[in-house]
Amino acid sequence: MKTATIAILGGGNMGASLIGGLIADHYPAEKIWVADLHEAPLEQLKSQFNVNTTIDNAVAVKTADIVMFAVKPQVLAKVATDLSDIIQERKPLVISIAAGIRENSLQHWLGGNIAIVRSMPNTPALIGCGASALFANQWVSHTQRNEAESILRAVGLVVWLEDEKLMDVVTALSGSGPAYFFLVMEILQNAAEELGLPKDLARLLTLQTAFGSARMALESTESPMDLRKKVTSPGGTTEQALQVFEEANIRRIFADAVSAAQKRAQELAKILGHETEK
Ligand SMILES: NC(=O)c1ccc[n+]([C@@H]2O[C@H](COP(=O)([O-])OP(=O)(O)OC[C@H]3O[C@@H](n4cnc5c(N)ncnc54)[C@H](OP(=O)(O)O)[C@@H]3O)[C@@H](O)[C@H]2O)c1
Repeated sequence: MKTATIAILGGGNMGASLIGGLIADHYPAEKIWVADLHEAPLEQLKSQFNVNTTIDNAVAVKTADIVMFAVKPQVLAKVATDLSDIIQERKPLVISIAAGIRENSLQHWLGGNIAIVRSMPNTPALIGCGASALFANQWVSHTQRNEAESILRAVGLVVWLEDEKLMDVVTALSGSGPAYFFLVMEILQNAAEELGLPKDLARLLTLQTAFGSARMALESTESPMDLRKKVTSPGGTTEQALQVFEEANIRRIFADAVSAAQKRAQELAKILGHETEK
């Protein structure tokens, strides 16, 4: 099978991580183009990965089978509109990782009938440990679906959504989720420090406990609820702590938080999308 030429537009955090992931997966460097406004990140990517670089998005797209939008959501309308002629001519697979930009907005800016995969990755993608949800529109072929999946898999786990509306729930769960876990780590570390544990020990024990618990939950066939019950002996210390959480209605607090994030994702999609343009 022919190896697709990929144009990554935006050589920032995510663009660079994707390139790093693809190269680690043995994707041929000569089949990767990256475009950015600035020479400095491009030179860095060229020397690190030997990929093709340009400060002109159109040059990168000119030979691409797959065009990946890795620019900030605020500039996507302009970047996509400027490329619509060349994209209509070549009809590549377009993959967008821009948070909050809906498929129909991108389709509108690109001029219609384009195969688009919208993806929502998260920050741990920067260390190859991300979680991305993907949504494909009706023009995406089976082969293109596989191509999109293997590109995003280079930076972590991939799941598919059949209904794009669920992307707002994904944004509220795994998109914003790293911040929820960082908050819990911060709170636990502070609590242990207040009880007298030195800062470096509190930090290390908190982080390793978070890592170990996540790994155990991922590797186990048991649900997090069953794993929790197993470490909660009747009359023991864990039970006392969990009782405090339940009395403070922790389940309601998390449900409200995730719901607030989902609502904001819906609002942002409207603000950033094509419907608000004059
Ligand atoms: N970082 C994450 O963890 C994460 C998670 C989920 C989704 N995303 C999505 O991924 C996308 C990229 O995020 P990021 O964190 O990688 O952003 P970033 O580090 O700011 O990278 C974007 C790069 O694109 C460049 N750029 C701006 N306008 C451009 C143009 N017209 N043509 C080509 N390049 C242009 C930027 O240059 P300037 O710096 O000069 O603007 C910057 O180097 C965003 O849409 C974001 O929503 C990111």
